[in-house]
Amino acid sequence: MSEISVRLLEEENWSEYRDVRLRALKESPEAFVASAEEEEGYEEDRWRGRMRRSRRLLAEQGDTVVGVVSVGSHNVETPGSGELFGLWVDPALRGSGVARKLLEAAAAQARQDELKHLVYWVGTDNGRAVAFASSFGFRPTDNRRPMEIHGVDDAEDAEELAMVLPLGNSAGVPTSL
Ligand SMILES: CC(C)(COP(=O)(O)OP(=O)(O)OC[C@H]1O[C@@H](n2cnc3c(N)ncnc32)[C@H](O)[C@@H]1OP(=O)(O)O)[C@@H](O)C(=O)NCCC(=O)NCCS
Repeated sequence: MSEISVRLLEEENWSEYRDVRLRALKESPEAFVASAEEEEGYEEDRWRGRMRRSRRLLAEQGDTVVGVVSVGSHNVETPGSGELFGLWVDPALRGSGVARKLLEAAAAQARQDELKHLVYWVGTDNGRAVAFASSFGFRPTDNRRPMEIHGVDDAEDAEELAMVLPLGNSAGVPTSL
């Protein structure tokens, strides 16, 4: 397998982010709250706004995009708390370390942004994502919330669990998320 690299996108790269985001939503609709159908209708302005709001990291193998993750802090009220979300790896490359590379870059970026921990809300039914996040160092918490998955039938009872990764520059993890 040729080398995987991870790149931080700028606002002008919004269409690269849009393309991989739509691929992720189409390929794994049950893993994300949003649906491809709703985001396909977004205009350029909206994508640019999303680029400004959160960090977007792209995994590439040569010229081919093979994964994505986002890091933001806009949604979290606790100071120093960031959120990791929108993690996706091309199915052909799962189990090959791409997800780990994405999270290493995301954690490094979060440290650079002076965040103290990352919160990751993940579907309780998403065993693979929970297992991966645990093996990376995210710790499960008692926090749960309903997960309203758009465009997927039989998802009424879906739930997310909050996992937390301390970033090594704080005394501990938040008492509230
Ligand atoms: C979540 C995701 C990024 C993880 O990347 P990955 O390359 O599949 O992860 P890895 O294979 O490195 O790690 C998965 C771990 O779960 C284990 N696993 C695999 N399938 C599993 C399952 N059904 N249940 C529990 N654990 C599972 C693997 O053995 C591995 O554990 P290990 O590291 O101890 O060997 C990827 O699977 C993905 O893109 N999924 C679809 C989108 C998604 O669910 N995103 C997360 C929601 S935001």
